[in-house]
Amino acid sequence: MSSPLRLGIAGLGTVGIGVVKIVQKHAELLARRSGRDVTITAISARDRLKNRDADLSAYRWENDPVAVARADDVDVFVELIGGDNGIARDSIEAALRAGKDVVTANKALLAMHGQDLAELAESLGRAIRFEAAVAGGIPVIKAMTESLAGNDISRVMGVMNGTCNYILTRMESAGLPYEAVFEEARQLGYLEADPTLDVGGIDAGHKLAILSAIAFGTQVDFGAVEIEGIERVSIDDIRRAADLGYRIKLLGVAQMTARGLEQRMSPCLVPADSPLGQLHGGTNMVVVEGDSVGQIVLRGAGAGEGPTASAVLSDIVEIARGVRLPVFGQPAASLTAAQPARTAVPAAYYLRLELQDKPGALAKIATVLGDAGISIDRMRQYGQHSDSSVPVLVVTHKTTPDAIDFAIEALPRTGVLVSDPVELRIEEV
Ligand code: NAP
Ligand code: HSE
Repeated sequence: MSSPLRLGIAGLGTVGIGVVKIVQKHAELLARRSGRDVTITAISARDRLKNRDADLSAYRWENDPVAVARADDVDVFVELIGGDNGIARDSIEAALRAGKDVVTANKALLAMHGQDLAELAESLGRAIRFEAAVAGGIPVIKAMTESLAGNDISRVMGVMNGTCNYILTRMESAGLPYEAVFEEARQLGYLEADPTLDVGGIDAGHKLAILSAIAFGTQVDFGAVEIEGIERVSIDDIRRAADLGYRIKLLGVAQMTARGLEQRMSPCLVPADSPLGQLHGGTNMVVVEGDSVGQIVLRGAGAGEGPTASAVLSDIVEIARGVRLPVFGQPAASLTAAQPARTAVPAAYYLRLELQDKPGALAKIATVLGDAGISIDRMRQYGQHSDSSVPVLVVTHKTTPDAIDFAIEALPRTGVLVSDPVELRIEEV
């Protein structure tokens, strides 16, 4: 058997401790699969005295993650601290420069600085692996870089933030408003320290930007992702969408078009009986479409100690086996700077309008939509909501985001709306 693969782990929180536990529990299994022992030599976190639910006495403690990254007795630096800059980036760069391979779960860092880090790693002949960074335990990075390497990928999409999916499904099942379920999620410890990363769609946007780079051979470009979070999704819309046979999901879609690369992360309606519509709670799902393979659906736990550590271990075993892939599936120097394109691919839209209950109101709405070039597929009016207003739902035929924007701007000028119109894209899945 070859010499052991020696790990230095920085970050001993949810994921870091999960990794330690798997290395301890499955030492023999990992050795068999890797062809060599996998051991931990050095560890680092902020607080040495914290009780961490694992026996760490055999490992050397370093206060500074950079010391772990540079240590002579470390072959692979495992960064599980997080953050799109600072110590996570400094320690990864130090590890690469010291000749170590890197494993990380840090989607924020890769989404913001993935190209620079990939160029650095590849210029030094080192690997950066990050299976855990997107969709937790789901092996989507390996599926896309390896298993689907023979495909021209046309579209990648999915639900990539478990917290948002939990909030949206719980709102529907319990009939609770957003604010109440957000508070529940906070109590359950689901939210990131900065909750806007989750509910603002940023965390999921980071993940989509990483998948786009692999799918389309482009430099990761988080700044070009059109992002809208779930904060404005109301229980009313969840109920009305259900009436029409849809569920609302925070959905990421990336596709290459003739105008450039569209990347968006936003609340969308999906058919309730589709695989994405059937996704409940904190589970993630990624759908990839390739020219030869057709559609692939990957589903599983997108977060948590076990699933995320499982993904980290898959990278460690890959490196232990001597496999060193380009960071984004092809040499970093060959990744092109994609032309970002605002979403223009037509789709059906859901509109919820609260109208004054008076003669001619619906006709005025229909005129605005007609003027915008929008054709109505279905329209449903409910009984009076209050003394003087009625909710009206419209499902349009396929139309462009520009046409919808035009209509949304014009609708208040009809003088028959009692509140702002709500529009949500209906995504074909
Ligand atoms: P976490 O529980 O907050 O743990 C972070 C760890 O980093 C802690 O052990 C902390 O030390 C340590 N740390 C923070 N600042 C440090 C510093 N300056 N020097 C040394 N150590 C420092 O985070 P996590 O949930 O395990 O997430 C880790 C990474 O995995 C992040 O990039 C995250 O985005 C990613 N990820 C997490 C999940 C998940 O389900 N949690 C899923 C996918 C990806 P102390 O313990 O001493 O405070
Ligand atoms: N906050 C993330 C989520 C953690 O809810 O999916 C996993 O990346």
